[in-house]
Amino acid sequence: MSQIELRPGLADVPVAESAVSFIDGKRARLEYRGIAVETLARESCFEETTWLLLKGDLPTQKQLADFDDQLRHHRRIKFRLRDLIKCLPESGHPMYALQASVAAMGMFYPARDVTNEKSNWESTVRLIAKLPTVCAAFQRLRYGDEPITPRDDLDHAANFYWMLFEKEPSPAIRKVIDACLVLHAEHTMNASTFSGRVTGSTLANPYTVISAAIGTLTGPLHGGANEEVLDMLEEIGNIQNAKPWIDDAVAKKKKIMGFGHRVYKVKDPRATVLQDLAEHVFAETGRPKLYDLAVEVERIMTDILGPKGIYPNVDFYSGIIYQALGIPRDLFTPIFAIARVAGWLAHWLEQLVNNRIFRPEQIYVGKTNQAYVPLSKRP
Ligand code: ACO
Repeated sequence: MSQIELRPGLADVPVAESAVSFIDGKRARLEYRGIAVETLARESCFEETTWLLLKGDLPTQKQLADFDDQLRHHRRIKFRLRDLIKCLPESGHPMYALQASVAAMGMFYPARDVTNEKSNWESTVRLIAKLPTVCAAFQRLRYGDEPITPRDDLDHAANFYWMLFEKEPSPAIRKVIDACLVLHAEHTMNASTFSGRVTGSTLANPYTVISAAIGTLTGPLHGGANEEVLDMLEEIGNIQNAKPWIDDAVAKKKKIMGFGHRVYKVKDPRATVLQDLAEHVFAETGRPKLYDLAVEVERIMTDILGPKGIYPNVDFYSGIIYQALGIPRDLFTPIFAIARVAGWLAHWLEQLVNNRIFRPEQIYVGKTNQAYVPLSKRP
């Protein structure tokens, strides 16, 4: 019998040294390169935060202006990629469209030599710039509409909104989209980041790395939870039904979507920032009934599962905000990916600096020394 101790889910097992972000799960603290995420969500923007994650420090004014220019310049997608997206089944989930498109981008933009820093930077810029375009293009094409061309005069958040709705967002809506991107941009060694680092450790090209990470993000225990939160709130239906519904779910040991976290044992700081920003958006869009229900669910859950350290995570409120903005439910996780690509790439670049291929151990529990019985002798 092996002496190696198995830690299911690799809980508490370090898999890399990283300087990208830091979480203190007891103090509700999340920092990107040492800066509190709440500060970045309020004071910074997605472009600046992305540079910070990728490079380690805030950009100078010139660095930010150049980076912003590069991102705007690389937003368009090749017509063949657009044709490819058009051929994907309209009933398929946009996350699969995003994953397939990003994998295909590796054929449009060869980037196999990951020792080439210039090529790695070009891939990094392309991926960050093009993900919103791919996502918006699939959204339009699946309904038979032509994709809306990106606008170079709009920033990342406003341009994404433009490509979805062909109208410019109000300042409050632009700010909340931008802040959602900042809040979702990075989160230490989570499942999708780990999967990206594992793929990167084989020296696979960056498009393959990001498509692997996108695939990992699709699961309901990870990025997919934000969609399921709305399904759950709709099933609960109204405030009166919240307590009996939760009591029943807890008794049946069902997971309440949007609650709980491997690291946070208090309320996720990103959920708190999102709630503050949501109030500004609701002043324009109207306060959704689901939001009041969500606040009540949080109150009841805090009484019941708070003592176990189970509180709302970032996904609990993000879906309600996106829905208030008119964004379709199955685009919630792709928006997560549009933001998280910044963190994934920061980890990929970090992995390459001191790379060793991931090759963990297993604890074998199967049979040994079995005889091979020829097929003719088997029943
Ligand atoms: N509802 C009810 N009970 C929960 C919840 C929940 N949302 N989350 C954890 N628990 C309970 C578990 O039943 C378990 O109880 P037990 O010890 O009595 O068996 C205990 O808390 C530990 O739960 P695990 O699932 O082992 O915790 P783990 O760290 O492995 O999982 C996870 C974390 C996946 C986030 C979990 O809390 C969960 O499934 N939450 C719901 C899905 C969700 O919201 N995912 C989004 C996460 S944030 C993100 O990816 C952006």
